[in-house]
Amino acid sequence: MKGVVLAGGLGSRLHPLTKVTNKHLLPVYDRPMIYYPIQTLVNAGIREIMLVTGGNNAGDFLKLLGNGKEFGLHHLDYTYQEGEGGIADALRLAEYFADGEPVCVVLGDNIIEGNIVRATQAFREQKVGAKILLKEVKDPQRFGVPVLNGDRVVKIEEKPKQPRSPYAVTGLYFYDARVFDIIKTLKPSGRGELEITDVNNAYIEARQLTWEVLEGWWTDAGTTASLLQANQLVAQTGANKL
Ligand code: G1P
Repeated sequence: MKGVVLAGGLGSRLHPLTKVTNKHLLPVYDRPMIYYPIQTLVNAGIREIMLVTGGNNAGDFLKLLGNGKEFGLHHLDYTYQEGEGGIADALRLAEYFADGEPVCVVLGDNIIEGNIVRATQAFREQKVGAKILLKEVKDPQRFGVPVLNGDRVVKIEEKPKQPRSPYAVTGLYFYDARVFDIIKTLKPSGRGELEITDVNNAYIEARQLTWEVLEGWWTDAGTTASLLQANQLVAQTGANKL
């Protein structure tokens, strides 16, 4: 399984912090934000990792991360997303890198207390389809929200005004190689982006999506409030525990 970290976008919800730099280079407690999702993949035993970046200061990632030595890696792959096409558009750029293998995708602003070792193992055994990780949150309307029927996720709604469950779809996803064919069929959403939620809904329609609830705290860090929360959680308890 290969790993993909998505770290593009303009970070406009964090202006003016992101006016001259990339969101994922901002500090979260004692490290740049991008360190956490990379560590999440490394802790899950994933050694081949591609970083998709874009927007401001893309070159700084190379200076900061190099070949990934700080994470015990020998090599890191990089690619550049032009414009603001959304999460699924960024993932599309990893098709050549994935080379037919399954991928674990982590959004560059998603930070977790624990690890995804068990889910990664479960997906290795699942072999086909996709797997998402859910987390109960106080403000599901900010996220992709699953509609559940018993144990089955029947649909995911992106930022619904009236959430139909208390869960957020976290930015940690597992996909088989078919994901790249699915992305090619997508149309831009209301906000003009190719949505990862539409990718997940395609897997639901094919009855090939499994899910788990993530253990430990989870947060994104893409708004002023969630960036503060991420700093506080990391300072209080530490992140990426094994
Ligand atoms: C994105 C996804 C959303 C998901 C969230 C997790 O939202 O579209 O489904 O719940 O990441 O961090 P965005 O941060 O682009 O608003």
